[in-house]
Amino acid sequence: MSLSANALEALSAALTPEQIRTDSESLSAYGQDWTRFTKPAPSAIVFPRSTEEVATIVKLAREYQLCLVPSGGRTGLSGGAVATNGELVVSLEKLNFVNEINPTDRTIHVGAGAITQQIQETAETSDLLYPVDFASSGSSQIGGNIATNAGGINVIRYGMTRDWVAGLTVVTGAGDVINLNKGLMKNNTGLDLRHLFIGSEGILGFITEATLKLTAQPINPTVVVLGLRDMASIMQALSAMQKTAPLLAYEFFSELAVDKVVTHAGVSRPFDTRTPFYALIEFENTDANSEARVFSAVEDLMERGIVIDAVMSQSVAQARALWRLREDISETISQWTLYKNDISVTVAKVPALLEAVNQEVHRSYPDWEVVWYGHIGDGNLHLNILKPDTLPIDDFKAQCGEVSESIFDAIAQLDGSVSAEHGVGTLKAPYLHFTRSSTEIDSMRAIKAVFDPDGIMNPGKVLAT
Ligand code: MLT
Ligand code: ZN
Repeated sequence: MSLSANALEALSAALTPEQIRTDSESLSAYGQDWTRFTKPAPSAIVFPRSTEEVATIVKLAREYQLCLVPSGGRTGLSGGAVATNGELVVSLEKLNFVNEINPTDRTIHVGAGAITQQIQETAETSDLLYPVDFASSGSSQIGGNIATNAGGINVIRYGMTRDWVAGLTVVTGAGDVINLNKGLMKNNTGLDLRHLFIGSEGILGFITEATLKLTAQPINPTVVVLGLRDMASIMQALSAMQKTAPLLAYEFFSELAVDKVVTHAGVSRPFDTRTPFYALIEFENTDANSEARVFSAVEDLMERGIVIDAVMSQSVAQARALWRLREDISETISQWTLYKNDISVTVAKVPALLEAVNQEVHRSYPDWEVVWYGHIGDGNLHLNILKPDTLPIDDFKAQCGEVSESIFDAIAQLDGSVSAEHGVGTLKAPYLHFTRSSTEIDSMRAIKAVFDPDGIMNPGKVLAT
């Protein structure tokens, strides 16, 4: 599919020349996300500045039969924003306003292209918190966060993006503009369509504006890093820590992950002892004794042989430095070609998941480098397989696809998910049936047909064609 001269003429009449790009550098940059798994080949990129301009673009796309790919910060990891077949990429980056905070409602109204970190910083100026956070928040855009229902490092305490959206303005694939929930806290008036658009990965339409909820800042967050013998110890330490303090995060990573960030990102080790696994815990100091309670819980875990070594942050700077051990992993390993798995089960089933996945990984990749990390307090593991230098990429993809089937079989047995937080995109679309029943998938197709009658919205994403 390519952009006809007539379609380009119609777009040029509706937008300014700066709002349309067709140069090869832009086509390549805007045609892909952080997965780097597909060859970008969009036909053009447009940059609307308002909801009305998005609606105009959708109407023209229907008229000229163009497929549309919504595009945010392109930090996605499932191929949800890739354009590989002459699609028109619609970048929301110019629709990036961040309005003043409404202090009474504790909300903020933003454009889809607003950078997540800018929203967090704006909230901070009023001593408030937008609590959805992850390593890519400096470049990810809120529209993409909402479209993928982004999770991140504080889900154990604050939940996913879905929990922080009070209202949405969307443009459907039919070109209709709808205001969903209007920022209301209470609105019991039938089906809540807002939640259909959250996590829909652009297959129903565009998210153009959002009203986000804000909350109070946590009190003096402190970080502890534990060195652990095995994955079972991580779960034992989780239960102990949950009884001790209000947790803001409970993350884990393997020694190989630490080795990569120490060697390639200049991050310091938490302590001299090398242990197979590490847990990073952030807790809130709700009272004067919080730290002492956590300290004695960690001592107890050490006496029981569950924790091998430990460190607790003594300052904000040290807490930030310890966080780099976890937050720098993804970017550090992105210099390899990766096969990323983002899997989840309920927290109680994590030990069973770990055992099943470990067996599969060891059987299939005895010599491959596998970097484990994730949000273990949410039951969410990231399993990253690094492509060996000598293996051609297509062979790598095929072999990873085979082992994924076995891993996803194990997940299906445990009623888990093939994509906990990265979304389905193109990479996990063939595996959707491991987590969703055929009735659910058929319902998704039917709902898509309601909002996107011509099937122009983000083709090939979520629902395999
Ligand atoms: C993370 O937890 O670091 C993010 O989900 C990114 C990734 O998995 O690489
Ligand atoms: Zn993650």
